[in-house]
Formats: sequence, C-alpha cells, structure tokens
Amino acid sequence: MFTVNVKKCIGCGRCVKDCFASDIEMIDGKAHIKNEACIKCGHCIAICPKDAVSTDEYSMKDVLPYDKKDFEIDADTLLNFIRFRRSVRQFKDKEVSEKKILKIIEAGRFTQTARNLQEVSYTVVKEGLRKLEGLALESLKAKGEFILGDENLKDEQLKRYAASWIKMYEHFQGSPDKKGGLFFNAPLVIVVSANSDVNGSLASSNMELMAAALGLGTFFSGFFVRASKGDKKLRDFLEIKEGHEIVTCMVIGYPDVKYHRTVPRKEAEVVWK
Ligand SMILES: Cc1cc2nc3c(=O)[nH]c(=O)nc-3n(C[C@H](O)[C@H](O)[C@H](O)COP(=O)(O)O)c2cc1C
Repeated sequence: MFTVNVKKCIGCGRCVKDCFASDIEMIDGKAHIKNEACIKCGHCIAICPKDAVSTDEYSMKDVLPYDKKDFEIDADTLLNFIRFRRSVRQFKDKEVSEKKILKIIEAGRFTQTARNLQEVSYTVVKEGLRKLEGLALESLKAKGEFILGDENLKDEQLKRYAASWIKMYEHFQGSPDKKGGLFFNAPLVIVVSANSDVNGSLASSNMELMAAALGLGTFFSGFFVRASKGDKKLRDFLEIKEGHEIVTCMVIGYPDVKYHRTVPRKEAEVVWK
C-alpha cells in the first residue's frame, strides 16, 4: 500500500497531478491514495515537497533525497562516457567482488519497466561458468550443424558463425580444465531474463554503463542468447522463471586491454518533421 501521512500533507495536489494511474484524490484538502489503479511507480513519493508519502511494499531505504552534486552528470561527460565504452573481450585473471556485482544489478533494478512491472531477473554465474559454457556450446553445436546442413541458406556470415560454434565446442571438449571461447577468459557472467525484451535490454544497458563506471569490461554474448533459445537444460540450470526469456548475457571482468580513443560510427538516420 502507498499511504499519505495526513499530518505532513499540505494539500498542494502535486501528487494528484503527476499520478499516471489517476489513483490519488483530494479529500478534505489532503491527498488520499486509493491503491486501486496504482502501478507503484513511486512518483507520489518523489514529488511530495513534505516527504509525506510512503509505502510498505518496497524498502523506503531506496528513497534518497535529491542533492544536485550527487545526482547530476554533465551532458558532455555522459556522452563521452557512452562513446568511450567498448565491448571488452580480453580479461585479467582477477575476480570481481560481490559488492561490484551487486552494484551492477542495482543499475538494472532501478531501470524503468513498462507498467512498472519490474519483471527483470538476474542469474550470476561464477563457479558454474564452465558448466554453463558447456551447455551453451552443446546447444550451439547442434544449431550450427543444422545451419550448415541447410543448402538453401545464403547468409555467409551466419555460416561462418555456425562453423565457429562447432570449432568452439570441439576445442572445449578437448580441454576439460580450461574455459572455451564463448566467454573468453572472463570470471563472471550475468544472464538477464525478463518478461519483455525491451525491459531486459534497458536494464542491461544501464548495467553495462555501471560495469564501465566500476572499471570493469563487458560484452553482450548474442551467441549465448541464441544458444539459450528453446534450450530447457540451459533455462533450468540458470533457474529462469516461467514467463521469462533470456534477454542478454553479460560477460564481465577486469579489462586486459586499453583503448586510447573512441571509434567512428554511421551517421544517425534522423527524420525531422
Ligand atoms: C545484442 C548484442 C549481441 C552481441 N553479441 C556478441 C557476441 O556474441 N560475441 C561478441 O564477441 N560480441 C558481441 N556483441 C558485441 C558487438 O560485436 C559490439 O557491440 C560491436 O561490434 C560494437 O563494438 P563496441 O561494443 O566495442 O562499440 C554483441 C553486442 C550486442 C549489442
């Protein structure tokens, strides 16, 4: 339930005006939350000038008062940060602390979701990395053989990928003590699953920026996501919830590579009307 402390409420109506679900009414000059259509977005908590709104559904410790010096990023710095981020595929032989892993997940947790459903889950894989890689490569090998067996397929890039999956699988089988090529030599993978691709992707994007801010490197393994499609063994191993799909697989570790500059990109295709 979301509630208004009537002793603190000054009846300014800001929460009523900003409530997307129109779930707040004024009664005798005080805001009253009906908790009928409420989507628990927390705008009423954030907007109240008197800190009169609270909930027992989430931890109120999540609520931080705004302080310009801690909450603002200069736009040019932000853009530079986005521009300088790279997919990292070379990692140091160094563990990532639980504190940093949890901070990356916090960046996902505070990302917006459609209807504020917050149906995004995270599976952190460290000890089980070789097992996970084995399962994924088994799946990719089968998918690769299927692709290469299709004589009508014209996608040469996909055929190259398919051949590389089979090679990776064989390499992995031949070196039981080592990691294969799928996750390079990363110490950690976070698999993001969600009820919607958009929700999972938005969370993942913020998580990647957080990883970079923590001095870590990441790449998204599309190969892994492809491996997971329709693969019950992988889903079960990762404990993916019913109704969730694996959206991203973030391969994370300390970068063993240094970039000296940003990279060029295609011009943006923009339509102005
Ligand atoms: C959805 C998605 C899937 C990707 N899959 C892989 C992958 O399977 N293996 C890999 O090495 N890189 C993968 N990448 C990384 C891209 O190759 C990389 O983002 C792109 O080449 C641009 O390089 P940058 O990230 O350094 O800017 C993936 C990226 C995205 C966004």
